[in-house]
Amino acid sequence: AHQWRGVINEYRDRLDVSDATPVISLGEGGTPLIEAKALSARTGARVFVKFEGMNPTGSFKDRGMTMAISKAIEHGAKAVICASTGNTSASAAAYAAHAGITAAVLVPEGKIAMGKLSQAVAHNGQLIQVQGNFDDCLDLARDLSANYPVHLVNSVNPDRIEGQKTAAFEVVEVLGEAPDFHFIPVGNAGNYTAYTRGYSESIDHGDSTKLPRMFGFQAAGSAPIVDGHVVKNPETIASAIRIGNPASWELAIDAREKTDGYFGAIDDQRILAAQRILSTEVGIFVEPASAISVAGLLEQSEAGNIPAGSTCVLTVTGHGLKDPQWALRTEDGSDVQPTIVPVDAAEVASVLGLASGA
Ligand code: F0G
Repeated sequence: AHQWRGVINEYRDRLDVSDATPVISLGEGGTPLIEAKALSARTGARVFVKFEGMNPTGSFKDRGMTMAISKAIEHGAKAVICASTGNTSASAAAYAAHAGITAAVLVPEGKIAMGKLSQAVAHNGQLIQVQGNFDDCLDLARDLSANYPVHLVNSVNPDRIEGQKTAAFEVVEVLGEAPDFHFIPVGNAGNYTAYTRGYSESIDHGDSTKLPRMFGFQAAGSAPIVDGHVVKNPETIASAIRIGNPASWELAIDAREKTDGYFGAIDDQRILAAQRILSTEVGIFVEPASAISVAGLLEQSEAGNIPAGSTCVLTVTGHGLKDPQWALRTEDGSDVQPTIVPVDAAEVASVLGLASGA
């Protein structure tokens, strides 16, 4: 039987690996590209969703982590370190566990989703909650990796971006061409950079003829690239992208220029509304940060910026089960109240509005 072999084995000739590189893989990549008819109907575009929540630890980080951990082992590392808003820590802990090495993970105290915290603990990561935000954690991780025998696996490590570019390869292979637009959440802007590189290399590889316009979105309370300055105290319910000083800022500006792209900011209310549209109309459950791709598409479509018939790919970066609390709130912010019934079919039928006697 055939099984997807993970991004290193699937794209070995297009990644910086050699026979000396051990392959530390959990079978990441090969995620579904799902046609979203409801979003096509809302926008007049042809909309596809790249569901990165289907990776082994539930986010796109696994594509970069297979590369970063494999290369770290190749270089003899016994321990890795990262700063994280949650998903990178979950991925680093899992891949380090698989490789039999240690992962230290620095996260902002009280600001990462419960599912991600559980993953880091489950995989035996050395979890350190820092009394600061993500940007402080990244400063610490850089400092420690420069001065102690521990290997940095944040996206400032070029191996991470290399692994993540494979998602663009997959999109091009499935569509047979690059899309016209690509919508993506932006935190450190590593993934925005990685897709741009992947699409560019797809042209070199003869698989496509154009670059999509790369449209990246930050949460309104954490939008340093859009605002044009570092945000000291970033805030948003989309905790994955609560970042005030993106590590790949310069690279992302280059990528925007190269692709005739765009950076926009979306407020939390619209992020949650988009999450609901994706889960109720398309059947894909994502964490809030990921839903910003959908919110960005809807906003740009309403503004008349997406010509009818354009092919649009939306990366949704992380699974909804990582941060499920938002689904249990109604639009007005109150808690969803499940209906409680006795063990009685007539009662259940009545609650469901089913007529008797079918
Ligand atoms: N979406 C999710 C679900 C994320 O976890 C992240 C980043 C992003 C989008 C943004 O990607 O940073 O490459 O622009 N999460 C990092 C982490 C910061 O620590 O898990 P980016």
